[in-house]
Amino acid sequence: MSTCRQLLTQRLLLAFEKARITPPEGIPITVAQASDTRFGDYQSNAAMVAAKALKTNPRQLAATLVENLDVSDLCDTPEIAGPGFLNFRLSKPALAKTIGLLLEDDRNGVSEVDQARRIVIDFSAPNVAKPMHVGHIRSTFIGDSLARIARFVGHQVITDNHVGDWGTQFGMILHGFKTLLDHDALAKDPIHELVRVYRAVNALTKADESILETCKLELVKLQKGDAENLEIWKRCVKLTLDQLNEVYDRLGIHFDHYLGESFYNEALAPLVDDLLEKGIARISDGAACIFSDETQSPNHDPFKTQRDGEWTDAPCIVRKSDGGFLYATTDLATIDFRVREWKADEIWYVVGAPQQLHFRQLFAASTRRGQATRMEHIAFGSILGPDGKMFKTRSGESVGLIEVIDEAVERARVIVDERDLEESAKDQIAEIIGIAAVKYAELSQHRMTDYKFSWEKMLSFQGNTAPYLINAYVRIRGIFRKLGDAAPTLDAECEITEEAERALAVKLRQFGEVVHDVLEQDFRPSLLAQYLYELADTFHGFYESCPVLRSEGTVRNTRLVLCEVTSKILKQGLDLLGIKTTERM
Ligand code: ARG
Repeated sequence: MSTCRQLLTQRLLLAFEKARITPPEGIPITVAQASDTRFGDYQSNAAMVAAKALKTNPRQLAATLVENLDVSDLCDTPEIAGPGFLNFRLSKPALAKTIGLLLEDDRNGVSEVDQARRIVIDFSAPNVAKPMHVGHIRSTFIGDSLARIARFVGHQVITDNHVGDWGTQFGMILHGFKTLLDHDALAKDPIHELVRVYRAVNALTKADESILETCKLELVKLQKGDAENLEIWKRCVKLTLDQLNEVYDRLGIHFDHYLGESFYNEALAPLVDDLLEKGIARISDGAACIFSDETQSPNHDPFKTQRDGEWTDAPCIVRKSDGGFLYATTDLATIDFRVREWKADEIWYVVGAPQQLHFRQLFAASTRRGQATRMEHIAFGSILGPDGKMFKTRSGESVGLIEVIDEAVERARVIVDERDLEESAKDQIAEIIGIAAVKYAELSQHRMTDYKFSWEKMLSFQGNTAPYLINAYVRIRGIFRKLGDAAPTLDAECEITEEAERALAVKLRQFGEVVHDVLEQDFRPSLLAQYLYELADTFHGFYESCPVLRSEGTVRNTRLVLCEVTSKILKQGLDLLGIKTTERM
């Protein structure tokens, strides 16, 4: 099903043709959802931009376009406003037909892309034996939602958890594992115990230099393949991944691969040799570095921007003077693997904003290596506590995913307890609501803003929250439950008469636009969240002014269809955010 935006754009282009006006080259003719719906549902500035280029009067051009425009099957007569805007209001008969179509469409009006791409999405990626932080939480939810949406619109998505399972932290972990590990605690909550050990050793090294030396020696032994240390390392990684998988399962998050940093160890030395040989990297103070300066690229360097000087001081180091490799080296090897083995057309990195320089360097280096894969750093800001400072848990520690989920579900359980529900269903509903609240609080934010984490707000039934949205869904399911056996088979023949019905139908029709917007407008799941919120709001407006069960005939059928399609879209939309719904609450 084409979206209204697409249909209206096509018709506008036809109008240009019919009026024998060639739209100016390079200026796209577009139609957008109206920001102020008092004037219509869609709006176009086509006449204005075209008139400017063609040097004619915009209002006159708008009038000519309207004369030649055939949209009678979609809208009322278009209106010309202000300096030459075209306003379109979808007509009631057209919308009545639309909701009939949506009723029978599993995809709820969301088309598939013309060209499916192979997209690797790199997200979550916590570090073994190091505390998980809010960055990992944001990455996990944003990444999962983007993966769901990309898949839904027809791309071939590969999700890969680039776990930090190799690194200098293992020096401390190995020493701690051998000297101060609590085996019972490890069995119970490995991630927590490993982080405790890491912190404890870290503190000891501050007080006693010689311990730092011991840790370094342990690390070197591991890197050289010492059997005991390798065994410990493997155990730590496995315990961590097992526990992480439990959490991902609870969250409904799936990774196709868990190729952590260690997977690329063998590839690093030859990679650096190759970079040096090709002149992409050079030795500086004993280290192999990629610089941003022009001497690196004999031809045009597409990454030369005005900020180019920036990494002359901070070159991208791929091998330290002591021979050690770095995060960037691993990431370059990872790109090679993803392009070679998975034939990636695109790689999306959902990683916090502090790593911007790292990714700029990485992408620049890849370009110089002739890689044509499209790469995107999908960055995000931080999460703040209610006091506006770094977000911490009740225990005062920096927060990881598990702690947040546990606390959310616990708090949701208190709320669910007060509701009129069967005792046996309460745990499950609390699990759904708690997780939904945290995910939605994240995904309803513009990803670049820092947002304040507030339990009260995210668990509230009022406002732009998961409970509010799920409540709208539950309410609709309640209507159909009430009908029970008397529920009619819905008829796709509808008739829209009331403005509240019309407004709801317009919203429903726009689902097909917003899902694509998430990926096309800068990777923003918040656009979908905002849409769902507006949909729930519009639904409540409709529900208040249009009685459903007390109406009859076609009116009743139409209203029930509106309810059914709203519930389908709420469910599917929330699912694209990774959020489950419940039938009762
Ligand atoms: N483990 C890293 C961190 O915690 C994130 C890895 C992101 N992915 C990547 N390919 N660099 O900061």
